[in-house]
Amino acid sequence: MSLLDKLQWRYATKKFDATKKIPADKLEELLADVRLAPSSLGLQHYRIVVVSNPEVRAKLREAAYGQSQITDASHLIVFAAETNIDETYVQKRIDEVVNTRQTSYESVEGYKQMMLGAVSRLSDEQRLIWAQKQAYIALGILTAAASELGIDNCPMEGFSAEQFDEILGLKEKGLTASVIATIGYRADDDPYSAYAKVRKEESELFIHI
Ligand SMILES: Cc1cc2nc3c(=O)[nH]c(=O)nc-3n(C[C@H](O)[C@H](O)[C@H](O)COP(=O)(O)O)c2cc1C
Repeated sequence: MSLLDKLQWRYATKKFDATKKIPADKLEELLADVRLAPSSLGLQHYRIVVVSNPEVRAKLREAAYGQSQITDASHLIVFAAETNIDETYVQKRIDEVVNTRQTSYESVEGYKQMMLGAVSRLSDEQRLIWAQKQAYIALGILTAAASELGIDNCPMEGFSAEQFDEILGLKEKGLTASVIATIGYRADDDPYSAYAKVRKEESELFIHI
């Protein structure tokens, strides 16, 4: 099956089969895919929380308008944006680049200054929006990669970020829940799996110049 076929197969799963769990090796592969998501300046401005604990998920479901995917999917993924993108955060990334690429601090000084310039130009609110945008890119990779692996998924914004932050203890980690996804296997009787895809016509969507 091509990626196109798999994206046709995927849909925003409304009803998961609560008895089916994603095998550990498949979950590991999916997370490895998501780890490779691109991000602005490579800063990966988020953490990804993988929630499997049923008690925690029961609480989170209440904070997500009772949506059943939260408890019935195999796993819940929370993309939590960093709220403290500052000089220390940039320095940590620089250290990672130097260590990973076995290079010198001098060689990445220009890159560091570019990052610091970008960070200093933004207000706190703008930095958060910047971080949240990056989290959505990771979400996009997750939905595509899960589909490629035959894992059903539903991206979700229908939740209270404030309550998620509270339940997951995100605030004290300098994080805030931005967008979530549920992953697992569709229930046989989820009517949504049979619905035709509704998308803009190509001529409505693409502008070739
Ligand atoms: C950012 C985002 C947030 C969404 N939030 C929810 C949600 O809270 N609950 C839900 O059931 N579906 C949610 N959806 C699913 C969309 O409604 C769905 O992707 C869209 O209608 C297209 O349908 P399809 O994905 O089945 O092709 C969300 C999708 C995205 C991308």
